[in-house]
Amino acid sequence: MIQYHESSKTFHLSNGKISYLMKLLPNDQVGQLYFGKAVHDCESFDHLLEMHHRPMTSWVFEGNNLFSLDHTRQEYPSYGTTDYRHPAIEVVQPNGSRITNLTYVSHTVSAGKPSLTGLPATYCEDAGEAETLTLHLHDGLLGLDVDLSYTLFAQYAAIARSVRLVNGGTLDLHLTHAMSLSLDLPDSDYEFVHFSGAWARERHMKVRRLEQGVQSVDSTRGASSHNHNPFIMLRRPGTDEKQGEVIGFSLVYSGSFLAQAEVDTWDVTRVTMGINPFGFDWKLAPGESFQTPEAVMVYSCEGMGDMSRTFHRLYRTRLARGEWRDKPRPILINNWEATYFDFTEDKLVALAETAKNDGVELFVLDDGWFGARSNDHAGLGDWHANTERLARGITGLAERIDALGMKFGLWFEPEMVNKDSDLYRAHPDWIISTPGRRVSHGRNQYVLDYSRPEVVDNIYEQMAKILSEAKVSYIKWDMNRCISEAFSNALPADRQGELFHRYILGVYSLYERLTSRFPHVLFESCASGGGRFDPGLLYYAPQGWASDNSDAVCRMKTQYGTTFCYPISSIGAHVSAVPNHQVYRDTPISTRANVAHFGTFGYELDLNKLSPEEREQVREQIRFMKEYREVLQFGDFYRLQSPFDGNFLAWMVVSPDKKTALVGWYKVLNEVNGPFRRLRLQGLDPELCYHVDGDAGHFGDELMHAGLVTSDSAAGQCQDFERESCDFDSHIFVLKA
Ligand code: DGJ
Repeated sequence: MIQYHESSKTFHLSNGKISYLMKLLPNDQVGQLYFGKAVHDCESFDHLLEMHHRPMTSWVFEGNNLFSLDHTRQEYPSYGTTDYRHPAIEVVQPNGSRITNLTYVSHTVSAGKPSLTGLPATYCEDAGEAETLTLHLHDGLLGLDVDLSYTLFAQYAAIARSVRLVNGGTLDLHLTHAMSLSLDLPDSDYEFVHFSGAWARERHMKVRRLEQGVQSVDSTRGASSHNHNPFIMLRRPGTDEKQGEVIGFSLVYSGSFLAQAEVDTWDVTRVTMGINPFGFDWKLAPGESFQTPEAVMVYSCEGMGDMSRTFHRLYRTRLARGEWRDKPRPILINNWEATYFDFTEDKLVALAETAKNDGVELFVLDDGWFGARSNDHAGLGDWHANTERLARGITGLAERIDALGMKFGLWFEPEMVNKDSDLYRAHPDWIISTPGRRVSHGRNQYVLDYSRPEVVDNIYEQMAKILSEAKVSYIKWDMNRCISEAFSNALPADRQGELFHRYILGVYSLYERLTSRFPHVLFESCASGGGRFDPGLLYYAPQGWASDNSDAVCRMKTQYGTTFCYPISSIGAHVSAVPNHQVYRDTPISTRANVAHFGTFGYELDLNKLSPEEREQVREQIRFMKEYREVLQFGDFYRLQSPFDGNFLAWMVVSPDKKTALVGWYKVLNEVNGPFRRLRLQGLDPELCYHVDGDAGHFGDELMHAGLVTSDSAAGQCQDFERESCDFDSHIFVLKA
């Protein structure tokens, strides 16, 4: 898949779906020629490297007024040697210079994909699944080696990139920019699409025209954040779900990031993605190395739906890992919205018992079971059961749940500490805080300094003890505040700029230790809902709690936005009580379930408080999920109608053999005398005849082109329709070939 043409010094990466072309520039730096749909190979693509004289710029070589980096597309650019755009790399040197010159030395091509030490990344199970090109670059003055790594997957229109830097010289270097990816595209005729939000409003889709200048989203919070997701798309205007050109850029990272598109005044677009350079300063002493996180680029000329399905397959099968990767996820009940902190052991068992009777498989005990925790002022850091609440500890409760025939899961917030805790009293210097400054809190809690191995060790020992003693099958790993007053008491002054990245490496190391020692445990990541819903955590935790907002209508947007990059099997979604605890809205229990079915599915309410009719519906919902969860969680997902465009949402999944499909259709507000409506389905086999909810049948081509009739009683007179409609109405159509 990876070719090198010596005569033109051109690299061509192609798997028949996409091509990626680079060539060595006259100064031996690496230039970018093309990324897009696969093209025929050629000995030379030199004509794609356009060099013309432009006044008022700087030229690399004396006597040559054609070659300037100012308007040359590059692979891993630095600032100041005729390029004036934002760089991928910046190295501050002992004399204060920031100029680097990374030139090509050699390259290697290997089968498969090497792992990234200490960092999450996509992987191969078989060396034939991918090929990796590594370009070895060198700055002779600094003795700095930079390896650019490109993995092309045989089955996917995807390239994974990362960079490794080694200081082979004698100078202390400081990395202030070490981006994972830089891609120069020849024009700017794109829309910049990103997924923004806030607590309880995560991953809302935002679209704007790319314009000359810099447009970016980032996080400076120490976590990928509720506010911006480390995923952007550049799409051609007019691109929709089924057609048009789009590139998705995704960073496999859970810390502060930057995703940026800079359009210069010749309309070249430079996309840069990686650790946020804001506040970043990594000392690279002689002999030390630095590994950037991985960035993944997915290309499609068949619309956003195709791009998303590539991400879904790749991330579900070659980023997520472990025993749970390919297993249908257990239907769970979580006690948080049912009890908050107000529970006793008997109350929990009563919740679990009812849930078990209705078919739920896993009982999850959320916050409040440990240390002196009876509200959110105390206890974090003391990971042993509060025996006033749980007389025989977690072991005793887990045994009672096990006796019911259910699995047992437990909440932790391993990165945090309350001042009212034994851990803080013993180690007050373990929190992140700046000497002489007030230390801010978030939800009365402080952030443990995970850049310190002894801190991670302490929490590991505490968690491992519980997991070894009690029958725990699931962990919800929460994280409820961002980092402030960033400073580590354990780092010297010239390494304080490393704290954010070292922190997240500490988080990954704890995840790695726990997941390898307890491989049967299913991990669900969480950060006040979806505050760290990113590919980095997907490597350890195959599912994540998508949002603390459990209202079905709000969830439509959050879950829909999440699907652009992340598979359905990763989206934690629960049915909760009404009035909803976040927006106080009443929605039918059927719609709450119909939204949560397109996720990992569970309940977060006291089932004992439901009416007999509602309980009957719950049983039916669970039966439905058990029957179809393989299709929902591992089938191909298609977005049909966007909740960001109006009053409706529709999406569907199709089983790999295309014989089963589920179409979720949702309406926000009811209307009167509205239009007749049809949904054009996708992904079906045109030659197969599908029974829709058991009807006489329609061929796949009819359902995809003429459409599925979704009109309800809101169109015309109520009595003419089988399904009466209401506000927040929904239906899942079951299609069987
Ligand atoms: C925030 C999480 O997102 C909630 O689901 C819940 O676990 C609370 N924290 C508990 O404090």
